[in-house]
Amino acid sequence: MSISGELFSEERSADVVARSFDGAPDPRLRRIMQSLVQHLHAFVKDVELTEAEWAQAIAFLTETGHRCDDVRQEFVLLSDVLGVSMLVETINHRAAGATESTVLGPFHVVESPRRELGDSVSLAGQGEPCLVTGRVTGPDGEPVGGAAVDVWQADDEGFYDVQRPGVIPEANLRGLFTAAADGTFWFRTVVPRHYPIPDDGPVGRLLRATGRHPYRPAHIHFIVAAEGYQPVTTHLFVAESPYLESDAVFGVKDSLVRQFPVVDDAERAAEVGLPNPFRTVHFEVRLRR
Ligand SMILES: [Fe+2]
Repeated sequence: MSISGELFSEERSADVVARSFDGAPDPRLRRIMQSLVQHLHAFVKDVELTEAEWAQAIAFLTETGHRCDDVRQEFVLLSDVLGVSMLVETINHRAAGATESTVLGPFHVVESPRRELGDSVSLAGQGEPCLVTGRVTGPDGEPVGGAAVDVWQADDEGFYDVQRPGVIPEANLRGLFTAAADGTFWFRTVVPRHYPIPDDGPVGRLLRATGRHPYRPAHIHFIVAAEGYQPVTTHLFVAESPYLESDAVFGVKDSLVRQFPVVDDAERAAEVGLPNPFRTVHFEVRLRR
């Protein structure tokens, strides 16, 4: 008796398995699965994966899944430290003159409360006071009034509210603002500190085993969105922060690094409702149509 069709072999494994997806009705899913199989088999052959290593990989992925809940997404972290999040982001948002994007990160896990322009997002009241000003424009420099500006950041010790429930007030350093008719926005906050990504799980173990540090340079997260334009997910990085050159998740882009200069001007401080002196940063956001 002879079997029609090709059986599995070491040499031809990728092609044999890829062909099993030939009948997938969705052509995009077919393409993705066939390419995945080709690369995955090439990788296994390249390193000649042992059975123990394969079992370890399965255990690692299992544990990664078990570490996911409402406020912790270990798979996003894994994607981040492998540079995949950044690659997907970059491929999908080739900027061409618009504000560059960067990773969403794992901390946009609660809805930002709506706040009025000028409000402070610092509910805990600790840290170096900072005035953030900005303007949202479109490709021709036209102001994008009414743009939604969603902001979240770590505090002066490098923690997000969700990491220390009961210690940090809920929604601390989060806010959803609406840009004024001329596209401008402004709010009060504190200067964020660099921080380690959550490293008490399998991804942290992977970093330690490979001699990598878990730190991200200090940054403020933004999602800016407006009808008729493509939203941008990005950060502003603090120029003085350590780890700008070695962000654990590869999120830094030159165009997103800003000085946060000190303003020593009692009159201006009173005007914006901050103690004197205070820090400032300005963000011109250019959206694509
Ligand atoms: Fe962050």
